[in-house]
Amino acid sequence: MRRTVFVTGAGHGIGAATARAFAEIGDDVVVTDIDTGAAEAVADEIRRSGGVATAHTLDVSMTAHWTRLSDELRNAGRPPGVVVNNAFLHIPGQAHEMDDEQWNRQLDVTLSGVWRSIRTFHDTLTSARGSMVNVSSVHALLAWPGYPAYAAAKGGIVALTRQLSFDYAPHVRVNAVLPGSIETRVWDAASQAGREAAARQATLGRLGRPEEVAAVIRFLASEDASYVTGVALAVDGGQTTTVAT
Ligand SMILES: NC(=O)c1ccc[n+]([C@@H]2O[C@H](COP(=O)([O-])OP(=O)(O)OC[C@H]3O[C@@H](n4cnc5c(N)ncnc54)[C@H](O)[C@@H]3O)[C@@H](O)[C@H]2O)c1
Repeated sequence: MRRTVFVTGAGHGIGAATARAFAEIGDDVVVTDIDTGAAEAVADEIRRSGGVATAHTLDVSMTAHWTRLSDELRNAGRPPGVVVNNAFLHIPGQAHEMDDEQWNRQLDVTLSGVWRSIRTFHDTLTSARGSMVNVSSVHALLAWPGYPAYAAAKGGIVALTRQLSFDYAPHVRVNAVLPGSIETRVWDAASQAGREAAARQATLGRLGRPEEVAAVIRFLASEDASYVTGVALAVDGGQTTTVAT
């Protein structure tokens, strides 16, 4: 049966790959992003390939955006049965260098976006016996220089995932993925040495592809994962299994 799958930050990278992955199996995909043009490009591409998708502007830190989009989807008879929280914001710098706005904004997008999603769609997820997948990071487990708010938000996502899996059981399964180094635009500015170091840190010896994360997200949201909830699954090529640098 066709599900309505709601993906945040779906205009680029892992979110876009996730939108395509659900569309490939016939789901109706709600492609949302703060970058409206990027969301439209992904939804257009899905439709051109024969899939079902619409594009919507959503800044996950804006409650009014969630409310407006929720009303629109309910009125259109498309209540989400799957929600993928993928949007994030990272502002580099050490903790003592952050002002209140920089710190709060990162938490508000990356962590509180997940809370806003369950507040908005707990009822549609419950009636669909649906599923939420939250995109955390290996930063929930390991430290790199200059990521204090990002690491706090990603660690928070793991704890919030566990909590939501408890609070909304048995009807809604809630899981997280922890990507390692994945080839998206976030790596565009990285040096060759930085990429090589990241590849070495993964026991599989390379960076991952967005599609490899999307496949795991799709699995966690599927009936094949019907007895899986509350987990934080690393999709990191083995990066968190070793102290290799
Ligand atoms: N690429 C990696 O190496 C890596 C590693 C670990 C975790 N992740 C996580 O994967 C997820 C996707 O990252 P990516 O690498 O695909 O990045 P990306 O920059 O390609 O995509 C992120 C998307 O989020 C959107 N976005 C930013 N702020 C938003 C907001 N306030 N509201 C809605 N959308 C917003 C952007 O427009 C963009 O489309 C993130 O949660 C990131 O933390 C990525």
